[in-house]
Amino acid sequence: MSTTTTSTISKKSAAADPGQGPEGAAKRRRMTVPGFTARKGAEPLVCLTAYTAHVARICDRHADLLLVGDSLGMVIHGLPNTLGVTLEHMIMHGQAVVRGADQALVVVDMPFGSFEESPEVAFRNASRVVKETGCTAIKLEGGVEMAPTIRYLARRGIPVMAHIGLMPQAMNTAGGFRAVRDEALWDAVIADAQAVEAAGAFSVVIEGVAEPLAARITEAVSIPTIGIGASAKCDGQILVFEDMVGLFPRVPTFVKRYGAMEAMMDDAVSRYAAEVRSRAFPGEEHTYKPKAG
Ligand code: KIV
Repeated sequence: MSTTTTSTISKKSAAADPGQGPEGAAKRRRMTVPGFTARKGAEPLVCLTAYTAHVARICDRHADLLLVGDSLGMVIHGLPNTLGVTLEHMIMHGQAVVRGADQALVVVDMPFGSFEESPEVAFRNASRVVKETGCTAIKLEGGVEMAPTIRYLARRGIPVMAHIGLMPQAMNTAGGFRAVRDEALWDAVIADAQAVEAAGAFSVVIEGVAEPLAARITEAVSIPTIGIGASAKCDGQILVFEDMVGLFPRVPTFVKRYGAMEAMMDDAVSRYAAEVRSRAFPGEEHTYKPKAG
């Protein structure tokens, strides 16, 4: 990275840099938890994952909520699944995203092993995440079984986004990443949604469920449902940024690619390598001349 791009991302420089946003785009006030919840049934909520300050800065111009998802273990750190993600990973990336975003609501995922043991352990770890990152809320996977923990956190000042349906942290008990399509399982997922709402979650991510189930959950709860692989019958949508911009060659069917970043990056790197080898780079214009005088 060049010295011109390593400067600290500040709110002032973001506003002054014409490269950081559409000309004249009005800054929105930071999305709050009550503001987010109030959007239930209204204009669809736009949510994206972000793991770094630079990506956060780009997404912040357009999104209502940025999630520092534990998917960062796979996307950034090359882990095979999310189970190896630590609280330290989440805090480090959470800090970066909070530095890059000043309009969207920033939510940080609680990694596997950091909240399941007891509400008290969850509070200890979640309060660390909030204190050390400056994020507004946390997300955790689980329905009925996590309701007491959600209640404990929400009553003590930590807003919670729940995550039900396909829960990647439960991959070993579920036998893999299994979308909820079998109708026999639907009532349990609806009960999960109602339990997290009653416990005080301000929103719920629904992952990998059949469309009629998503519709029934969205109808059954008064908090916004945010879908990923859960159809348009949700109050908002979330995708993993890297999937959405085409940074991965293989993505699940529910992902729509809005860019072809992998191909662009591969092309840039291959042209750079060729020009270094042929000595076409660096050119005159990239070369310091001795100081005159
Ligand atoms: O970890 C993550 O990125 C998530 C989203 C896919 C919802 O949980």
